[in-house]
Formats: sequence, structure tokens, C-alpha cells
Amino acid sequence: MSALIVVGTQWGDEGKGKVTDFLAARADVVVRYQGGNNAGHTVVANGRELKLHLIPSGILYPGKPCLIGNGVVIDPEVLIEEIKQLKSQGINTDFLRISPRAHLILPYHRRLDLYEEKQKGSKKIGTTCCGIGPTYADKTSRAGIRVADLIDPEEFKFRLKYVLEEKNRLLISIYGAEGFDYTELMEAYSKYAEILKPYVADVSVIINTALDEGKKILFEGAQGTLLDLDHGTYPFVTSSHPIAGAACIGAGIGPTRINRVVGIAKAYVTRVGEGPFPTELTDAMGEKIRECGNEYGTTTGRPRRCGWYDSVVARYAARINGLDFLAITKLDVLSGLKTVKICSSYRYKGETLKNFPASLKVLSECEPVYEEMPGWQDDISNVRNYGDLPAEARSYLERLASLSGVPIVIVGVGMQREQTIIIHDVMPAC
Ligand code: GDP
Ligand code: IMO
Ligand code: MG
Repeated sequence: MSALIVVGTQWGDEGKGKVTDFLAARADVVVRYQGGNNAGHTVVANGRELKLHLIPSGILYPGKPCLIGNGVVIDPEVLIEEIKQLKSQGINTDFLRISPRAHLILPYHRRLDLYEEKQKGSKKIGTTCCGIGPTYADKTSRAGIRVADLIDPEEFKFRLKYVLEEKNRLLISIYGAEGFDYTELMEAYSKYAEILKPYVADVSVIINTALDEGKKILFEGAQGTLLDLDHGTYPFVTSSHPIAGAACIGAGIGPTRINRVVGIAKAYVTRVGEGPFPTELTDAMGEKIRECGNEYGTTTGRPRRCGWYDSVVARYAARINGLDFLAITKLDVLSGLKTVKICSSYRYKGETLKNFPASLKVLSECEPVYEEMPGWQDDISNVRNYGDLPAEARSYLERLASLSGVPIVIVGVGMQREQTIIIHDVMPAC
């Protein structure tokens, strides 16, 4: 048996989709375990670019089971559209399976997300407005509706009636917004249920059986460690647990079944939405990285905030996730710079902080301490062997690994699947 988790180590968009697609060639099953369509994972392979939101980034391999675990929140409209889009591009989705225990994002969740953000004004989180927070809140407060309920007409009727009355009261009287019509929702969601029913299966059983048979399972995280509800920069976080530990809960497997955890980090850092970001560059350099890296959100199109690589964040992510290895993506984006910087520590009120702080007030007052290194001028997008990278690029990577405390095993030098340098094979042997 072998199970490997791909996890974001920063604030999301590290390139998890690309790395998952690359590693999926050697996996038997690919699984998403948390988040929803707030995720946007871009995969560029076989001459096409796919933007996946819910479906695991293994879908390009025909016949490979791709599973959506119970920890994911599913917007049926979005999932059906994503399946349709993939089919229209000739991609087979017959091996997609979704957990009956996954919770549903319903239209009132999306509207509540929007109005909650509006009401927060300048204190807004900057959510994707996909309804993620309200859906996970309903799950926790036991007011959620699950895939299992959707495909059971009597149960869905009963649960929707009861929950919708409460949601409409909230939307109309608290937010002055419009409510939803029960009959219209019932009609639409009964159709969605028929479309999705063939995909519903007990994902936990499939994964555990596959592990018993010695198969290789790849878990694809969404978002990133610093967006984790418990370990991220709360309240500027998402409402799920993007960290590796969540794979067990979100897929229905025991912790003893996980073999490896690979953290994905950009060669610099980006963040979408509000919240502190110690190494953020608000100057021309930040703009240059945004343009060279095409740093615009996959889901919302918002410009991503850009900054230098932060090894305090990396060390924190290594501890929280128990990282075995790091994959560094987008090294090519830094080509052509005279010098590159790495944040090695934070200074707070004249002291060097040992650990990533919990207090946002402290974090926002931290000053990053930088190490500056020579940049490299060559185009590295065609390099496939580590030894062929310019010496300066190798020194940069070696310093990243040393400051992060985790060995680098994969380096990304472009968007395409092939634009990947493998230093060490991370798919564990059976
Ligand atoms: P994810 O959410 O972690 O899957 O990341 P996104 O897909 O949202 O954002 C990463 C972006 O960088 C995507 O457009 C990828 O195609 C692209 N990308 C990934 N790895 C590399 C790389 O090594 N070099 C370059 N230039 N682009 C990359
Ligand atoms: P992937 O999987 C980057 C951010 C939002 C916002 C915060 C809360 O592509 O890396 P939410 O809609 O989840 O309630 O928003 O989290 N966010 C992401 N940022 N990449 C993502 O996913 C994100 N998913 C959510 O911008 O700041
Ligand atoms: Mg993304």
C-alpha cells in the first residue's frame, strides 16, 4: 500500500494541480479531500489547459479513478458544469466518484457568503463568494444537506423545506436580500440529483480497498497551509483544513495509511484576498513577478499579491504537515532578475521570532529579514535535469531547502506537464 499527499505550503495557488497531474501518471487513484470550487487548479498537458475546481487533477489519465471525498463541499451546479466542460473536450469522467457524505453548497450559501462579506465592509475576508464558509458552518452546526440526501427525493424534500425556511428568514430579515423559492429549488435539484446519482459511491471503501490491494493513492489538497481554519492566518482563512492531516478525515482513511507528504511551494509567494503577508512586495518588483508569473486568480480572476519566498512560512508548513519533501514551482518566473531574496526570519520589536506567530497583530508588525542572492539570466524553461540549471538557480534552491528544512525533490520550470525537473522519485514503492 502507498499513499502520498500533495499539500499547499503557502496561501494557495502553489501549483498543486500541475504537480498532482504530473504525479498522477504513477498513481492508481487520485482523491480531493477538502475545500470546494473556491479552488482553481490549472493543468496544462496534451496540448490543452484545464481549469479544475472540484474534479481531481488526475482526470486527464483515461480510466484512472478520481474521487471527491466527504471533506469536500460540492456545488452540484458547478460540478455538473465541470463534468460537461471536460466531456466537451473529450475527457472521460466515467471514473469520477463522489462521496455521499460530502456536503452540498446550495444557492443560499452563495448568497449568504456575498452578504456576509458586504456586511463586513473593510473587514471583509475577500472570499471567493462560492458559499464555502456558510456551507462548512452549516455542516458544523448540523444544518447541512449532503449528497446522500440529494439523491434521496423524500429526504431532500424534507431537509430542504426545513433548512430553507431558516435561510430565507436570515436572508430577508437580516440582510434585506431576496430569499429562494422552495418549489423552484426542488425542481432544479431533482434534475441535478438524477445527473449526479451514477457518480455517487462510498469513497472511503474504494480508497481502503485500493490500499489493501497495494495500489498507489494520491491525495490532492486544495488551498494552502496558511489558509487552514486552525493553523492559518485566522480569520483570513478558508473554512476547511487544507493541511495534510485533513486527508484522513476528508477521505475516510486512518493516519497509519499515509506514507508521504509533499509540500508545494512557489519559488516566491502569492496571496489572493485580504490578510497579513509579511514578504509582500507592493512595489515594481511585485508587479514584475505578477506579470511574469501571470498571477491572476484561476477562480475569481483577481490579481494575486506577490512577495519573496518566506522560509518562516515554509518551516511552519513543514511542522504542521510533517513534510517529507518540497516541490518548488515557477522557478522560471524569477529568471532574469539581478538578485533574488529569501526571507530567513522575522524580527518583531527587535527580537528574532522562533516560530510563526498566532497573533495577526504580531504578524502584521513582523519585519522580514532577507538574504539576497545573485539571480540567473538564462531561460530555464527547457531545462529537464537539475545539473543543467544555472549555478545561481541551484544555489537559490539549495538555500531554500536549507532554510525550509525540507529536501526539494521536484522543480517546476513552466506550466506544461513536461516542464518539470525530478530530483528524487517521490511516489513510494508498494
Ligand atoms: P493550484 O491552485 O495550487 O493548483 O495553482 P493554480 O493552478 O491556481 O496556480 C498556479 C499557476 O501556475 C497555474 O497557472 C499553473 O499552470 C502555473 N504553473 C504551475 N507550475 C508552474 C511552473 O513551474 N512554471 C510556470 N511558469 N507556471 C507554473
Ligand atoms: P487553490 O486550491 C488561493 C482564499 C480566498 C480568501 C480566503 C477565503 O486554488 O489554491 P473562501 O472562498 O475559501 O471562503 O475564501 O481563501 N482562497 C484561495 N486562495 N487559492 C485557493 O485555492 C483559494 N481558495 C480560497 O481568496 O482569501
Ligand atoms: Mg489555484
